[in-house]
Amino acid sequence: MLEKIKKIEKEALENLEKAKTIGEIEEIKAKYVGKNSELIEIIKGIKDLDADAKKEVGKQSHLTKSKIENKVKFSLEALEEIALEIFDTTYPVDTEVGTLHPVTIVAKEVTDILEKMGFMILSGPEKDSEYYNFESLNVPKDHPARDMQDTYWTSDGDVLRTQTSAVQNRAMKEYGVPLRMAAPGRCFRNEDMDASHENTFFQLEGLVIDKDVTIENLIYVMKSILKEIYKTDVDVRLRPGYFPFVEPGFELDIKCAICGGDGCSTCKNTGWIELLPCGMVHPNVLKEGGVDPEEYTGFAFGIGLTRMAMLKYKIDDIRLMNSGDIRVLSQFGEGQ
Ligand code: DAH
Repeated sequence: MLEKIKKIEKEALENLEKAKTIGEIEEIKAKYVGKNSELIEIIKGIKDLDADAKKEVGKQSHLTKSKIENKVKFSLEALEEIALEIFDTTYPVDTEVGTLHPVTIVAKEVTDILEKMGFMILSGPEKDSEYYNFESLNVPKDHPARDMQDTYWTSDGDVLRTQTSAVQNRAMKEYGVPLRMAAPGRCFRNEDMDASHENTFFQLEGLVIDKDVTIENLIYVMKSILKEIYKTDVDVRLRPGYFPFVEPGFELDIKCAICGGDGCSTCKNTGWIELLPCGMVHPNVLKEGGVDPEEYTGFAFGIGLTRMAMLKYKIDDIRLMNSGDIRVLSQFGEGQ
């Protein structure tokens, strides 16, 4: 069964690599992860397997499904970016095709690394309920921590999600434990906009739950991800940080690559750059996701993808990121 799933994965990814039109991609999607696909049949049959097979097949089939869906998404996005330019009637006809958005590029880089480490890549709704965005994350109504995130409310009582952490509870309920998932996506906060504040930005939430997961595992995984991104070993340090859904919570800093830790203007003379918040999942969050905190522990982390893209491409005004200004975005020639 596992081999069959691997074969499906290989075939689907190869076909997606070759696909040149939206129609072709949709056809591949239907064939490999559509309602009547072999993979979905396998997933439906998991409940009848014995315990060991259930675990193995369950894990592999969901991982394969998420890999294929993710590749479909990126392939469509890549085509759409190009199509946008091709069909822009105001654009000179003999011009070159466009490039991927800087955030799309870093999101793909990070999710590729995480997939190799066995993470499922998930997505959640951008308009979400108060429950997923706050309550399931140990932030009850009237909790002062809600003030940390200026929230857009919709007239039906939902919110525009302020954080991709909102996917945590859904993932636990849908996939159970052990769990390794990452959820990249758009978030919204009611910010006054300036060069470093936007009301719309991208995050990536990571969540790992298993037996005996410790802070050491958290540090190891963070260092492995950063090593792949920066192509060299990076020194990290953890400082205490408060987030209601983790205990203990941390801010992870990396040693400043510009001055090597001696202090410079980029790191404000501290030698360290604040990079990402993380922590050990709060028992209340596990309980709310149907996971027994006596048996399981976990860690979570939040990567600011918009910030990461700005650092990577040295973009100093966040407003450019959503400007849709081709003159800005087409400077990043990767990922065509
Ligand atoms: N969701 C938090 C925010 O947007 C970021 C965050 C902090 C995510 C700590 C985490 C975490 O997973 O452990 O402010």
